[in-house]
Amino acid sequence: MTNIEACIFDLDGVIVDTAVYHFKAWKNLADELGIDFTEEHNERLKGVSRMRSLEIILEIGSLDLPAVEKEKLAFRKNTEYLELVNQMTAAEILPGVTTFLADLKVRGIKIALGSASKNARTILEKINLLNQFEAIVDGTLVQKAKPDPEVFLLAARLLGVAPEHCVVFEDALAGVAAAKNAGMYCVGVGKPEILSQADQVISSFEGFSLEHIKTDIPA
Ligand code: BG6
Ligand code: MG
Repeated sequence: MTNIEACIFDLDGVIVDTAVYHFKAWKNLADELGIDFTEEHNERLKGVSRMRSLEIILEIGSLDLPAVEKEKLAFRKNTEYLELVNQMTAAEILPGVTTFLADLKVRGIKIALGSASKNARTILEKINLLNQFEAIVDGTLVQKAKPDPEVFLLAARLLGVAPEHCVVFEDALAGVAAAKNAGMYCVGVGKPEILSQADQVISSFEGFSLEHIKTDIPA
């Protein structure tokens, strides 16, 4: 597809499966608070900011805490999460991702990251992918969380590519909505029944290449 000029990737759930680490750290915190937090609940935290994630957990436990307390809890969760992240290696890059990124490079397609995570750079460094991205937009750079399009629009701007020539790869409902709100083509990575708003859905990057993108982005 010659009219695709850039690919923008979400991180958690697209490049690496950090949801398991988020869950472990949130679960420990929820246990301490006496909240029954399940893996099913964890699905609701995908693509959602750290503070909003905590608020969802508190809502599940019908707990209301003052802002300072919430800040402390979010900090504690992140400290535990980072201990897990620090043990990550390139072996955790999801199947097919490295090959797909290399293929984009060869074709001269620009590559950016568009993630809600404030730990995105740390993770990319751990898995040795930091140098693969021409632009990295993470949770430290955006004001409005997905489904607001800010994260992807900023990535496109930094790359110097118009939104209509960008393809976004996303695993979360809020992220798919953000891509569509940005006027971009969106490839959902995961289950079609969950990511029905995406333009097309793939189960993984294994065997995936640009030719599989169904869009006819105008020149
Ligand atoms: C998103 C994850 O990528 O980042 C969410 O899908 C997470 O589950 C969010 O809450 C924020 O991450 P962090 O690393 O800033 O706590
Ligand atoms: Mg994600």
